[in-house]
Amino acid sequence: MGDFLDLVKHRQSTRKYSDRPVAREHILKCIEAARLAPSASNSQPWKFIVVDNPELKLQVSKRTYDSVLKFNKFVDQAPVIIVITLEKEKAVTRLGRAVKNKEWRLMDVGIAAEHFCLQADELGLGTCMIGWFYEKEVKDLLSIPKEKSIALMISVGYPVEGYRIRGKSRKKPEDIISYNKY
Ligand SMILES: Cc1cc2nc3c(=O)[nH]c(=O)nc-3n(C[C@H](O)[C@H](O)[C@H](O)COP(=O)(O)O)c2cc1C
Repeated sequence: MGDFLDLVKHRQSTRKYSDRPVAREHILKCIEAARLAPSASNSQPWKFIVVDNPELKLQVSKRTYDSVLKFNKFVDQAPVIIVITLEKEKAVTRLGRAVKNKEWRLMDVGIAAEHFCLQADELGLGTCMIGWFYEKEVKDLLSIPKEKSIALMISVGYPVEGYRIRGKSRKKPEDIISYNKY
């Protein structure tokens, strides 16, 4: 097994994809990594819709940007989009959430999504989590029931040849770590 931190450093948001198709088997391996993620009370409040039909995928990607806000236009190039829906948590988690006023489901989905992206990176795939999209339109396209919501989408594909590994732009350790007090 390689160094986990190397994998973490190598994963980056990929915003340029080649048109090389992605095998469903690889997508399933990434979803397996996500499926095994921890969640509050083991609620596993997620479903993964794999959008790999090219016409449908393009319709979905077109709902991640518009004529003014175009920063997600790169999603058009990704051969696969994963749409993660937010599912019911266990009754005990729902009760805890009301008492503690914490939305653990979003944390759960975030952890699962990162498992997915790290596994994808190990397979040579690039990903980008997509939080900006037109939810109602995507729900309509994918027949997602009205009462459900979409937590996150992930674009997936092989990065274009020579796609640069950027350095990480992150806060400094001394600005985010403290010991024994805030
Ligand atoms: C919840 C979430 C939503 C995001 N939504 C978008 C998005 O809509 N479009 C985009 O280009 N990047 C999106 N990103 C990617 C972040 O911009 C990116 O992770 C961050 O800048 C750090 O860069 P890195 O992933 O390359 O390390 C999102 C990331 C997260 C975790």
